[in-house]
Amino acid sequence: MATSDSPTRKALRYTGKAKEVYDTDQPGLVWIHFTDGATAFNGVKKATIADKGRVNAAISAHIFERLEAAGVPTHLVATPGPLDHVCHEVEIIPVEVVVRNVAAGGLSKRLGIEEGTVLPRPLVEFFYKSDELNDPLITHDIALMMGWAEAWELAYLEHAALEVNDFLRDFWGEFELDLIDFKLEFGRATAPGQRGRILLADEITPDGSRLWERGTRRRFDKDVFRRDLGDLGDTYRALFARVFGQDLPAATGA
Ligand SMILES: Nc1ncnc2c1ncn2[C@@H]1O[C@H](COP(=O)(O)OP(=O)(O)O)[C@@H](O)[C@H]1O
Ligand SMILES: [Mg+2]
Repeated sequence: MATSDSPTRKALRYTGKAKEVYDTDQPGLVWIHFTDGATAFNGVKKATIADKGRVNAAISAHIFERLEAAGVPTHLVATPGPLDHVCHEVEIIPVEVVVRNVAAGGLSKRLGIEEGTVLPRPLVEFFYKSDELNDPLITHDIALMMGWAEAWELAYLEHAALEVNDFLRDFWGEFELDLIDFKLEFGRATAPGQRGRILLADEITPDGSRLWERGTRRRFDKDVFRRDLGDLGDTYRALFARVFGQDLPAATGA
């Protein structure tokens, strides 16, 4: 796989809750390493879940490749290892975009809608990406007023998020899973010649999605960890097997 011009991993620049971001030897490219870290309630609940990094890295790469092929520009460039994504560096837009098809979690709490209620149409919500403030729900106007994004960018985010939703509903549906909701992050490409272009970034994984098995409503997402519904590692390995039609290979320890 490695060729002379494959990027190599350089200095660690950021340690997040589930991933580490490194520089590479190539300007405009970052190296994102998925870890087994799991957090919930903004870091209040923490654990290490064996295999979670590999499941998330594999699923996110697979989905990003499919989205790119479907015409949604993403940050993914290459997958040099089972835990690693080489990506276009972006300046993350600090507006998390959540799409919901069925009421659950925060929406149910906020509006008093019973979990599992099908929404009359997909709902797009914006949240300010801030651990200190607990990712508050924001309006379009707040994002503009604070200078977090421009009007055209917010319009693009909403449009792209709905396209991703259409894709993902079909994608998960093939595995008998209903897409209840999910979160996206976008960023502005930094590379010369690409500057300002908006790319779908970060990850699309069961950490930031709700996936309920059709009929049984068995959870195939991080709610298993948040709500102590079972073993998250088993859940994620089962999800991997559904998506790829084979068991997750045994860990090599490397
Ligand atoms: N292509 C990219 N370029 C630069 N930063 C990125 C890119 N994709 C994702 N990120 C950022 O890298 C971090 C990934 O680590 P993660 O563990 O998810 O962190 P967090 O705890 O902030 O959610 C996130 O802050 C995310 O916004
Ligand atoms: Mg994150």
